[in-house]
Amino acid sequence: MTQTLSRVLDASLKLAVTLSCGAALAALSLGSAVAAAEGPAKARAPAEPVIAGGKPQRLIVNPTEDPSRGFAVTWRMEAGAGKGLVEYAEATPGPAFEDAVQTVMADSEVIQYVPRNGPPVSAIAHSAVIDGLKPETLYVYRVGDGRAFSAWRQVRTAAASAKPFTFLYFGDVQNEVESHGSRVMRMARRLAPEAALALYAGDLINRSDADREWAEWFDMAPDLHAELLTLPSPGNHEYGPPVDGRQPLAPQWRQQFTLPRNGPAGVSALSETVYQVDYQGVRFLSLDADAISDSPELADATLKWLEARLTDNPNVWTVVFLHYPIFSTAKGRDNAELRAALEPVLQKHGVDLVLQGHDHTYARGRKGGPVYVVSVAGPKQYVGGDREWASRKATGVQLFQAISVDGGELTYKAYTATGALYDAFRLSKLARGKPARLIDLAPKSAELDLKRAP
Ligand SMILES: [Fe+2]
Repeated sequence: MTQTLSRVLDASLKLAVTLSCGAALAALSLGSAVAAAEGPAKARAPAEPVIAGGKPQRLIVNPTEDPSRGFAVTWRMEAGAGKGLVEYAEATPGPAFEDAVQTVMADSEVIQYVPRNGPPVSAIAHSAVIDGLKPETLYVYRVGDGRAFSAWRQVRTAAASAKPFTFLYFGDVQNEVESHGSRVMRMARRLAPEAALALYAGDLINRSDADREWAEWFDMAPDLHAELLTLPSPGNHEYGPPVDGRQPLAPQWRQQFTLPRNGPAGVSALSETVYQVDYQGVRFLSLDADAISDSPELADATLKWLEARLTDNPNVWTVVFLHYPIFSTAKGRDNAELRAALEPVLQKHGVDLVLQGHDHTYARGRKGGPVYVVSVAGPKQYVGGDREWASRKATGVQLFQAISVDGGELTYKAYTATGALYDAFRLSKLARGKPARLIDLAPKSAELDLKRAP
């Protein structure tokens, strides 16, 4: 209303000023009458539409080590923005939560570098951990710099103990992320709107430091990133060419994600790439496959950490996710050293599910305990190998998975980009440590075992 009046007054040099002003004032006075009839309006500070520093971008929520008590928020603003902050409150059916908003100041980092791929990047990365929350409670939050804000977003904290929930799993998106990848993300939200978490098994983008590709990754699913706890594991495409004998992780990784720093103690190279999250009866363990393959020291640190996390595990279910497959699915590929290092540990400790990417094909099979899955969410598709270990396989299909856990049952469903159920099974066990029984639920009639090569 104020803006209408101001626009009208700006036109006051014109002959029509009297009439326009009169109409505007009449409208203003009508508005006041309505407001008076409904009671005093609450004094809110709406976000300004155009501000130096722009609007918050690349908004994402990640889990903290205890997702029943908090969550982490990360976003980016253009250079020139003010100090970053998060406002949050318990959600209410209407805007009443605004009376109980609390504010947390963000940690901020100036981003200024010239990537190998693309123009120079200049921005401010903000992150904050919201802690001390109630379990199993829906919260609203928004981020900004005190002048420009995101929309209010909603995130539910986890229950403090085992309780049914659903999580999503995506293999490599990597290429044509927005044009092709977003289709899979939208279908995932349609078919599993109840999902609380989203796991990515690496190769989120193609060229590690290409900032435009990361912008696309955020743009492909802004609602999903801002409202489901995201658990990414890095792939080889998140690493650049070697510098001093070691491949550098994309600078965007730690700027854009705020993940639990509970990986191998004192090993900064694995910080926020190797981590653990316990969520309602499931232990999720992200491994940095590239680091394991690249460095004996990092492989050793990872294995020790993994052994400890699998030994000290009170959860009924254990899910390990990493980029390189223990059992390859693409023609001519094999990760023998990785398999030799990891498979005995995964088997010994009764890991239930190993979720992977990299091979741009699909396969699911069970080998000596864990069920291994390789999947691909993006459009790049390879020719499938023999995959004699797999009981279900495909090439030429973009997929996502919705996996539900309910007590002693874990139900896995893989859907195509068109929403067709391609694969399904259920794991059933009586208690932690007991071997799970697998019930194959794959649709027999689906004509989806596509043989077509790319
Ligand atoms: Fe890869």
